[in-house]
Amino acid sequence: MNTKANFSYHKLPYRYINSFVDGKWGEGELSEDERIILNESACVLHYCQVVFEGLKAFKTIDGRIVCFRPDMNKKRLESSCKQMNMPIFPKEKFLAAVEQVVKANKEYIPSFEEGGSLYIRPIMYGTTPTMGVKSAKEFEIRFFAVSVGNYFDANKTARLRVSDVDRAAPKGTGNIKAGLNYAMSLSNITDAHNKGFNENLYLDPKERKYVEETGGANIFFIKDNKVIFPYSESILPSITKMSTMYIAKEILHLEIEERKVTFQEIENFDECALCGTASTITPVGLIDDHGHQIIFSNDVIGPITSLLLKTLKDIQHGIIPAPKGWLYEIK
Ligand code: PLP
Ligand code: COI
Repeated sequence: MNTKANFSYHKLPYRYINSFVDGKWGEGELSEDERIILNESACVLHYCQVVFEGLKAFKTIDGRIVCFRPDMNKKRLESSCKQMNMPIFPKEKFLAAVEQVVKANKEYIPSFEEGGSLYIRPIMYGTTPTMGVKSAKEFEIRFFAVSVGNYFDANKTARLRVSDVDRAAPKGTGNIKAGLNYAMSLSNITDAHNKGFNENLYLDPKERKYVEETGGANIFFIKDNKVIFPYSESILPSITKMSTMYIAKEILHLEIEERKVTFQEIENFDECALCGTASTITPVGLIDDHGHQIIFSNDVIGPITSLLLKTLKDIQHGIIPAPKGWLYEIK
């Protein structure tokens, strides 16, 4: 498998589209058109009324196609929609849309031997022309897909820097997958990349004392074989994190903690990793706090991180049995 970062847009043949008009969703259909036609005053363009999701389909070792926990993405989309005054997309329609897109693009799912996956990106946006600040009444949802490999270079550990700006307000939208959380991070990630870092590590926006997450993934730590997951109401509830917590506790029988983690204490931790659908589990090599570097490892994955990553991947590829309901088979 290509170990370099490989997470970019390319047009695949089919995407699923459905519209919300007069208070209800339509039937929805597959389309070969990757373009969106919008009114110049569509609410999404001015007021960022857009939420999205990200999930993966894999080829298993025995050649089946499985989606990893799509029901959890559906649930999180629902909470994003509620907070953004957007309509709920029903569960049956969500799963049917995933199924249709995966099936229609199935020749683009990397083989088990290649590694990689088909990444499915559902996005919902407000299309109504608005001038005053108010919610759209009409919406569109699309599920498109791309073939992906690693989000970060798999031969290197990630380099993070402590951010000087916040990604979310204390009672804001940090806990949902809304485009606006990413819009504010774009100049910050550009600056981080220019300075040789892979990601920004955000601290809590109220006291700047606790560890939150990075721009595109949750974070966790290991100390004396215990896996420690930072808790915060302003981070995205990561499905990979919930899965990793389960794997650590129920499969590997490791001690876990989910709690507030001060930035100060991480100096004493043994391993550090990011977790997310795109980034899977990515070992973190160092965190730079304005020139003071906390070093976890130098391009070597720590033993517990390695075990967690292997177990997660083995589940996703059908090498070891998945906990009930984790794999949604697409026939
Ligand atoms: N945090 C942020 C800000 C993200 O964008 C993502 C990616 O989805 C995650 C965490 C990880 O969440 P998940 O594991 O559900 O993909
Ligand atoms: C994901 O992991 O699915 C995301 O949406 C994160 C993004 C940075 C690619």
